[in-house]
Amino acid sequence: MSFIQFDNVTKYYNRSATPAVDQLNLEILEGEIITLLGPSGCGKTTTLRMLAGFEQPTKGKIQIGDEVVYDERRSLPPEKRGIGMVFQDYALFPHLTIEKNVTFGLNKWKTRDKKKRAQEVLELVGLGEFGHRLPSELSGGQQQRVALARALAPKPKVILMDEPFSNLDAGLREKMRYDVTNILRKAKATAIIVTHDQKDAFAVSDRVVVMNEGIIQQIAAPREMYRCPKNCFVAQFVGKTNLISGTLCPDLKHVETHIGRVCLPQQSDKTIDNVMVSIRPEGCRLAEEGRYAGMVERVTYSGEYQEVHVRLQSDQPSNEPMVIYAPIEQDIEIGSVVTFDITPELVALVD
Ligand SMILES: Nc1ncnc2c1ncn2[C@@H]1O[C@H](COP(=O)(O)OP(=O)(O)OP(=O)(O)O)[C@@H](O)[C@H]1O
Ligand SMILES: [Mg+2]
Repeated sequence: MSFIQFDNVTKYYNRSATPAVDQLNLEILEGEIITLLGPSGCGKTTTLRMLAGFEQPTKGKIQIGDEVVYDERRSLPPEKRGIGMVFQDYALFPHLTIEKNVTFGLNKWKTRDKKKRAQEVLELVGLGEFGHRLPSELSGGQQQRVALARALAPKPKVILMDEPFSNLDAGLREKMRYDVTNILRKAKATAIIVTHDQKDAFAVSDRVVVMNEGIIQQIAAPREMYRCPKNCFVAQFVGKTNLISGTLCPDLKHVETHIGRVCLPQQSDKTIDNVMVSIRPEGCRLAEEGRYAGMVERVTYSGEYQEVHVRLQSDQPSNEPMVIYAPIEQDIEIGSVVTFDITPELVALVD
């Protein structure tokens, strides 16, 4: 049973000819962590704000639990929707202590209950000892956990986080991905997190929703999204890939391309002849007597692997070289001829 439901939700801002969000359909389960992932301007924040009630859809229906929070007849005000929001800049009150920041939304609670709840949520986020400090006396990661504690304090049904990791440096970001997921799981919260970073999305969520130009491109668990991207946009947006056009063979299990015959992980359900395949660089392995051959044009080190650009003998000048990831211990010389194999599991037919 879905807990949050968007039915055909469309949003046009004033005077805009194109919708910011276009016929969005999305169902989220209770306790699920979802991320909205997509490039700048694709409608992520608009979607979040419509759910929170800060923005009115032009058309459609939104439901939380068994309550309709928006349709053409009614719009429940934000404070009645049971939503906790964590803003990108955390929006902590600088002159209030951490405890007062956390209890800010609990104005109808008794003082004793407020204090107890503040302590509970601060302990949940690992800051039980910090209630008396001011926000300026905390690190970036700690401030973010306070913002999350504040959002969780009134026991909301849903937590929304807009770009929660964008203010953090790379090392802290990785730790916070882990911490935030743990905290949300412990609080049994249903959460929607907005990001334009694929690594954030894959690390924190049960399912990822990829959007482009206001339209949902694919909804899938991270692993499925990576291995079976639906179209070229998703394939390129979630990680690197080689996109190659070809012809589907009559056995529906292979594609004839300019690099040679490529094997698919399973029989295709498409029947059109001209197709596009996505081949992940991790799915290509340099091998002694590999099936495909080419010349190394460029090698770049990323620390974890080396990115090798291989120009195939059959390449037209217009073709992009094949991108392959190789282990860093392997010696690869520019200009040398190499052969490689492709793992079918990391090949996908895309639209
Ligand atoms: N208040 C507004 N008035 C008019 N247009 C708006 C308004 N807010 C957003 N838009 C437009 O709606 C589209 C979607 O914006 P939105 O903020 O939802 O994108 P986003 O995916 O959150 O992008 P980013 O990653 O840059 O935050 C954009 O084209 C934007 O210019
Ligand atoms: Mg945004």
